[in-house]
Amino acid sequence: MTRLNENYLNLKESYLFSEIAKRVNKFAEEHPDKDIIRLGIGDVTLPLSKSVISELHKAVDEMADAKTFKGYGPEQGYDFLRNAIKDYYHRNGVELEADEIFVSDGAKSDTGNITDLFAVDNTVLVPDPVYPVYVDTNTMNGRNIIYMNSTPENNFLAMPDESVHADIIYLCSPNNPTGAAYNKEQLKIWVDYAKKNNSIILFDSAYECFITDESLPRSIFAIEGAKDCCIEFCSLSKTAGFTGTRCGYTVVPKTLRFKTTDGGELYLNKMWLRRQTTKFNGVPYIIQRGAAAVFTVEGMNEAKAMIATYRENAKIIADTMDELGVKYFGGVNSPYIWFECPFGMYSWDFFDKMLNEIQVVGTPGAGFGRNGDNYFRLTAFNNKENTINAMNRFKTLFE
Ligand code: MLT
Repeated sequence: MTRLNENYLNLKESYLFSEIAKRVNKFAEEHPDKDIIRLGIGDVTLPLSKSVISELHKAVDEMADAKTFKGYGPEQGYDFLRNAIKDYYHRNGVELEADEIFVSDGAKSDTGNITDLFAVDNTVLVPDPVYPVYVDTNTMNGRNIIYMNSTPENNFLAMPDESVHADIIYLCSPNNPTGAAYNKEQLKIWVDYAKKNNSIILFDSAYECFITDESLPRSIFAIEGAKDCCIEFCSLSKTAGFTGTRCGYTVVPKTLRFKTTDGGELYLNKMWLRRQTTKFNGVPYIIQRGAAAVFTVEGMNEAKAMIATYRENAKIIADTMDELGVKYFGGVNSPYIWFECPFGMYSWDFFDKMLNEIQVVGTPGAGFGRNGDNYFRLTAFNNKENTINAMNRFKTLFE
């Protein structure tokens, strides 16, 4: 008899954003006349930039000619893109080697897939609230998960508890969902904790492009000692509008290694290469060409202009919260605004209220963990007009 992975019984019925989409679609079907504004899932709305589109077109033409056609590419990414990413890190003060960079279809997949490298009996430490992929993928594998509180008291930036041992630690900065960002001193404390505990930090930097405060680190590898205990995940989804185009990268230092039970050592870079070459056939050539354009001077300027637009939206939302006296976090160094649900409401109830009364979709904090029960997340990724309209509607809830 086929036996199934019964760890799936320990998951919620659906993935957070699928559940939201289901509820919103149902509402839309029942109220076809209503204009819904979506500030829920962090999905971009601006089109891909000119230089990205131009490179995509060129790459399509290459595929139409037998002389330039490409079949299977290197599973870990073409050199032209790995080198472009390496140079990007260099410009941000971090030195990497190209073969420490693995091109992928995004940070979501890789933060989940990386669990392949770790034994099931590791203890996983995640902040609460947290991006649900870290929790759900480890639940699928049957790992023990422990939580650390991110609350207003620590500005939603959980710090290590020296009395707690963890083997695998997930950190995301700037944070999804709270928008909070660690400074260098705080990340150094995490790196020191990981080294002391012989543990690994899985660092999600998908929102680094939103950092405006130049003193904040954009990469965990800006922290001394991080190459001994960290893997970093990043993505072009938010940096350059690739949510539908799919391209990200994972950095696995070549020095990163842990002891095996027989007293030997395993290098994670080699393990990840083995995993990717076996289970993944690489990101399409066309997409990688478009992605490489992001790292050119022109492409970077275009990406910055996009991010500036989203930042403006974040400010519109934050200003509204200020005006209404609603306590919030994020909105600076982040596209997310994380606020306490007004009227003392539970976040799924507030979600329903927003949808039913003003047709604005957000994300209930409960979907990110217990500490999010009374919080709510709005994204800055819609356009300016919709963001202004959404905030005007939001104000009516307080009349
Ligand atoms: C979110 O809304 O949290 C993001 O879209 C998640 C993601 O990038 O997968």
